[in-house]
Amino acid sequence: MQAQALVDDRHDDIRPDYTMAQPYGRYTSVDHAVWRKLFERQGDFLKGRACDEFLAGLAGLGATKDHIPHFERLTEALMKATGWQIVAVPGLVPDDVFFGHLAARRFPVTWWIRKPEQMDYLQEPDAFHDIYGHVPLLMNPVFGDYMQAYGEGGLKALKQNALNYLARLYWYTVEFGLIRTKDGLRIYGSGIVSSRGESIYCLESPAPNRIGFDLMRIMHTGYRLDTFQKSYFVIDSFQELFDATRPDFTPYYEQLRKLPQVPSGDIIEGDRVLHRGTREGWDPRPDA
Ligand code: PHE
Ligand code: FE
Repeated sequence: MQAQALVDDRHDDIRPDYTMAQPYGRYTSVDHAVWRKLFERQGDFLKGRACDEFLAGLAGLGATKDHIPHFERLTEALMKATGWQIVAVPGLVPDDVFFGHLAARRFPVTWWIRKPEQMDYLQEPDAFHDIYGHVPLLMNPVFGDYMQAYGEGGLKALKQNALNYLARLYWYTVEFGLIRTKDGLRIYGSGIVSSRGESIYCLESPAPNRIGFDLMRIMHTGYRLDTFQKSYFVIDSFQELFDATRPDFTPYYEQLRKLPQVPSGDIIEGDRVLHRGTREGWDPRPDA
């Protein structure tokens, strides 16, 4: 009963679109210390690993290690750069609500931050993942347009009962994407940049596959939420991603309904294999 009351009390001010004012006064000194530690640590790991667009976006936001950012400050920087806004939410929101926000260039950010004992891993997005992972690339015009288009595409996919296909695209690009640059492979996926272990593993481990981006291939590939990825898909530019996803997906979804799901660690015919994974240390359980 007590726990229930606490949760309700914490989120008694949610609006119908699931947004709320960022309850800044509720952050404790422990919360700010968690932010500082994660911010410093990832900054070290991401030098030479994250793509330039991410690092430039992070710098441009004006977020610092000193305290959890005020979402209005982030919105000011975003508005000037690309017209995006940050809105605070209590946690994961329903799909239609999420897509509706993206389509309107509003990015929902979970207001609360993980506890000190969850530094390396937690199952759901928190403020660190959402801000540090997702918001820097919203400073990039091409990526910002991609995210808005994804929101519109999500609303459409819901109507067409095709969200399972489109969700894989989000997973293998927005969350776990790699990009090829003149200096080598770099990270842009938010699930990687906000993870200590995976930011090293995805580039340096021989275990996972690294495969050239292929829209249809990705949309029939399974994935796992609870381990490092077995395959990463590599784009050459954000423009490539935006252009590949510009067509109407309706005929794609019809085709996909006829294709079997590819297990996340498999290599299939037609793959542009940049690195064939050694599969060492792989969790043998099938994809979720
Ligand atoms: N063009 C896609 C459609 O018609 C929408 C989309 C855009 C999906 C960008 C993903 C990313 O459904
Ligand atoms: Fe995310």
